[in-house]
Order: sequence, then structure tokens, then C-alpha cells
Amino acid sequence: MGIKITGTGSYAPERILTNAELEKMVETSNDWIISRTGIRERRIAAPNEACSDMACKAATNALAMAGVAPKEIDLIIVASVTPDKHFPSTAAILQSKLDASNATCFDLQAACTGFLYSLECANALMANESNYRKALIIGVEKLSVLTDWQDRNTCVLFGDGAGAVVLEKRTGKKDIGGILASKLGTDGKYCDILQVEAGGSSMPATHETIDKRQHFIRMEGQEVFKLAVNAMSKACRDVLESASIRPEDVRWLIPHQANLRIIKAVGTKLGMREENVFVNLDKYGNTSAASVVIALDEIVRSSKVERGDYLLLTAFGSGLTWGATLLRW
Ligand SMILES: CC(C)(COP(=O)(O)OP(=O)(O)OC[C@H]1O[C@@H](n2cnc3c(N)ncnc32)[C@H](O)[C@@H]1OP(=O)(O)O)[C@@H](O)C(=O)NCCC(=O)NCCS
Repeated sequence: MGIKITGTGSYAPERILTNAELEKMVETSNDWIISRTGIRERRIAAPNEACSDMACKAATNALAMAGVAPKEIDLIIVASVTPDKHFPSTAAILQSKLDASNATCFDLQAACTGFLYSLECANALMANESNYRKALIIGVEKLSVLTDWQDRNTCVLFGDGAGAVVLEKRTGKKDIGGILASKLGTDGKYCDILQVEAGGSSMPATHETIDKRQHFIRMEGQEVFKLAVNAMSKACRDVLESASIRPEDVRWLIPHQANLRIIKAVGTKLGMREENVFVNLDKYGNTSAASVVIALDEIVRSSKVERGDYLLLTAFGSGLTWGATLLRW
């Protein structure tokens, strides 16, 4: 039977933080940021705007497109590294804000690959005769709270935002769209190269951890860069092969929006034409778990996808985690 996406939605906070503003905060330049990353601006959530608030707006848009009422949803998965609280889950908080009281709710953490992990999870939970028939899958981040605004190596990279999809069971043979193949991976030996060290059970918050700025993102950028290119291109090749689809048959490669050079390198490795590789990181920067789903929503809403098109989603993040998912629209 399989499942398909019947609605997409996204939300970007109003406040735009430009490269020119960053030039006043740390020793950097608009030219450096654009040439090394491709990012021109990013969105920053308001102080009183939590992930559940952004998720609620993205989810409302996705539900409207699908024509599904919140009470019809029986599963909500929220992917995020910046949940509202340690607990309860952001998914539970979102359920209450949406009034989706019939949904089973949980959060999933796979860093920037979280949306793809959540899709795979929902795909498995909704398989065959399961009672889960309509699901909301969300990627949402408020990375501005984990960003060290004194660290030029990282503060130019990240942004806030949310994206959502509604998944439904395919109804009949005429329904061609759906998730065709997926490949996920993790390699925990790299868990130190991209992390937030303090605030969890291994290093609870103390005055000292705050003084040492250990509650912010730390990253070995070049190491992450190399691993990202290789892992995403291999995962993409694996899913294409398992579905017997050639790279040139893919209408859109929708990669995690972390760095334009990474995106281009993955496209080149796959032998894809530049016009089939979707880029919007110039506007949003790296929004981690939200990035791929915000991009998907932008493609859908600008009518850049037609029924029957193949979409190849790929992501990479802390863990290290990576994945690729092939969709037919
Ligand atoms: C972070 C990243 C943009 C840095 O680009 P890079 O080409 O690798 O740059 P390097 O790390 O070699 O740094 C080059 C120089 O620029 C400097 N630099 C770093 N950030 C800077 C900034 N914002 N402005 C100006 N200079 C900067 C460095 O200090 C370094 O200076 P040095 O040579 O005097 O030591 C790049 O490595 C990257 O995107 N990595 C992957 C990040 C990522 O995708 N993370 C998320 C995964 S989900």
C-alpha cells in the first residue's frame, strides 16, 4: 500500500538577520560568508517563539493543503535538536496547540537528518494494516538559542524555521505517489566533531559550563564538510539503485541546506544537472531538521513539481547521521 505526502507547509520567523549585521557582531565579512557558504541571510525566532509555535504554523499550512482536520491525525513526530523543553516532548505540546487530540505523539532526535529519520519511522508505523492512517511529520529548529554569537566559525551558518508534511496511506492503484526507497545511517565515532557539550546527563548545567560557553554548538567544519559530501552522495546512490532510478530521472535533488559548496559537490558526484539541485540556503541558512522540509514545501508551493516526478531528499548531521529518501510525487 505505502504512504504518500498529501500536504506540505512551512514557517519562517519574521526577523531577518543579514550578513551585514553579522559583520558588526564578529570578525567576518559578507564576501567571506557568501563565498564559503552561500548564505546571505537567516531567520531568527522571537524570544517568546518556541519550536512548538513555529511547528504549529507549519503544520496548520500542511493540514490546509491536505484538507485534513487536526482531529483526523493519529500520529505526530517532531524532529528537532531544540525542543521546547527536556520534557514533555514538543510533539505533545504541539498536539495541544493544534487540538489534534487523537494523535500519538513523540519527538525524534537525529540532528539535521531528523526529518528523514521521522519519515522512515512514520512509513514503518503506517505500513500494512496499522491503525496509523494520517500523520504529521515536522522538522523544526530554534538554533539561535544554541548558537554562540561570539564564534564566527559557527554563528554565520544557522537559522530558525519549521516545515511539516501530512502523510496518508495510499488509497488505490491509480495513486502513483509515495515513498519509494530510503537509506539511513549513523556513525557514532564522530559524535564529538559536531555537538553541544553541556546541558545533558553527561555534563549537567553548572555556572562553570555556562562560563565556558559549553551550551553552544561546536563544530570541526572541514571534517564535517568532507564526511557530509561522501555520506550524502553514497546514500543517494543507494536509494536510486534500490529503486532502479537513474540520477537523470530525478526532477529535484533536495539536499540539506548547510553549505552551497557541499550541495554542489553532492550534485556533481551524482552527475546531476545544476538546475535539478534545489537551493534556498541563501535565505535561511542551515535550519537543521527543518531544512529539507522547508525546501520541499517551497518546491511544492511554487509549482516546481508535477505528478509523477521523482524527488530525492538527502541530509546529514551531528551523530554523525545521514540519509536519503526517494519520493514519487
Ligand atoms: C564552516 C565552513 C563554512 C568553513 O569553511 P572552510 O572553507 O572549511 O574554512 P576553514 O575552516 O578552512 O577556515 C578558513 C579560515 O576562515 C576563518 N573563518 C571561519 N569562519 C569565518 C567567518 N565567519 N568569517 C571570516 N573568516 C572565518 C577561519 O578562522 C580560518 O582562518 P585561518 O585560516 O586563519 O585559521 C565549512 O567548513 C563548512 O561548511 N563545513 C560544514 C559545516 C556544516 O555543514 N555543518 C552542519 C552539518 S549539519
